[in-house]
Amino acid sequence: MEVKFSTHKWNEMATDCLVIGIPEGLKQPKGPLQPLDALLDGQLAALLAEGDLTGKSKDTLLLHTFGKISCKRILFIGLGQSVTFESLREIAARAVRTALKSKVSHLALALDSFMTDGVSEQETAQALVEGSLLGGYRFKGYALEERNDHRLSRLSIVCQEGQTSEVEAGGKLGEAMAKGTNLARELVNIPGNLLTPTGIASAAVEVAQRYGMEYEILEREDMIRLGMGALLGVAQGSAQPPKLVAIRYKGRPIWEEVLGFVGKGISFDTGGISLKPREGMEEMIGDMGGAAAVIGALEVIGQLKPEVNVLAVIPCAENMPSGTALKPGDVITTMSGKTVEILNTDAEGRLVLADGVSYAKRLGADYLVDVATLTGAVLVALGTCTTGVVTNNEAFVEEVMEAAAEAGEAVWRLPSFDPYKEQIKSKVADLKNTGGRYAGSITAGLFIGAFAEETPWVHLDIAGTSWAEKDTDMSPPGGTGSMVRTLALLAMGRA
Ligand code: BES
Ligand code: MN
Ligand code: ZN
Repeated sequence: MEVKFSTHKWNEMATDCLVIGIPEGLKQPKGPLQPLDALLDGQLAALLAEGDLTGKSKDTLLLHTFGKISCKRILFIGLGQSVTFESLREIAARAVRTALKSKVSHLALALDSFMTDGVSEQETAQALVEGSLLGGYRFKGYALEERNDHRLSRLSIVCQEGQTSEVEAGGKLGEAMAKGTNLARELVNIPGNLLTPTGIASAAVEVAQRYGMEYEILEREDMIRLGMGALLGVAQGSAQPPKLVAIRYKGRPIWEEVLGFVGKGISFDTGGISLKPREGMEEMIGDMGGAAAVIGALEVIGQLKPEVNVLAVIPCAENMPSGTALKPGDVITTMSGKTVEILNTDAEGRLVLADGVSYAKRLGADYLVDVATLTGAVLVALGTCTTGVVTNNEAFVEEVMEAAAEAGEAVWRLPSFDPYKEQIKSKVADLKNTGGRYAGSITAGLFIGAFAEETPWVHLDIAGTSWAEKDTDMSPPGGTGSMVRTLALLAMGRA
């Protein structure tokens, strides 16, 4: 979809639908609503007086203009009592969804009607574009007859002459954020047979190529040479070969102060020999949500080009049971040299991440953020709206949490006291890959932390947040694109 900026008067905008924000409690047409009301024979004044236009948050009213002005329809949407960046995003998303039901193709948003004190023009434009594109996302699916077939083809932000540079800057930000998020959603929604480890790697490479980033793909032979026994172990039960993608975004002349992102790329998680129950296993097509978040963040970074060095490492494998699969009791040697006793083959994410983290360090990462759909336990602890955080560094975790707050993505820290580390010590190896029933999300995170060693590291467990059961204004069911914007803003904040 195209995003455009236009400086037409509201009533001169030729479009399928013009969206106008109405503040709660408005009694009669004010400002640019007055000439509009005159052209519509005083009908706006009547609607306000009759109480049809309440301005209550997200209340909508769709009017046909019957040729009286150049846009075919006007969609009024309530702003509620107080307007924030976040509420604007949701309002825009709701407006798009409402408009899509009427098969609108070209939607225009009247910027001034959404402006309030405390939210700048740039932020307002960002919120409107970001919310519209996020709310308008649909997964196409594979049915012969497309169900959600209607899309927006164009989105216009209608502003005044003097506002354009601010508005375009905000719009560009919002567009980049939404495109990255929607890419991550799309990848999560693609089924396991159609997005294999090879497919995840190709998706990552596509982004790298689009923005001229350096990349490499490690094949099984490379992994053997590097001693990546953990990633190889997880992959050995599958007919699909593992891949590891590394992408360098060089925003600075020297490769230093490198921010490393490591994303779990399990294209499908059956649990392996420690097979998962059949109920709900289909959701494990989303077990590459961490990889998707990293790829989505690169998509944002590629568009916005911050002066920061970013390294993305994405270990990809399929976790399958078979005659060649890893078994409980097996001991593997990771790239770091540390050995791991496998107690449960379903705790595969931390294994591929262990080698991913070691490789990121090898390539020069000075800071590490790993993102993974790692544990069911994080759903028990935090539910579906909050991402779990584990760290080894106070200052760095503060920075990541600030980026998350700015992105509007909820995160919550879990403790990482020393006694938890005892839970993952093995009698026969350096580590074991499960820490027992208690504090599962913490011990899983700390397992990865053992490979980060002294490097400042933050772990984001998105098992609860990367997949939505229910529809919300900004996100349909399925992949949510969790942590794309947090990672992107973390990188932007360092530029
Ligand atoms: N991919 C799963 C975690 C998961 C669960 C993601 C639910 C999304 C929704 C992970 O690989 C896994 O199976 N974890 C195990 C760990 C256990 C065996 C220690 C789990 O959480 O049960
Ligand atoms: Mn698993
Ligand atoms: Zn998994």
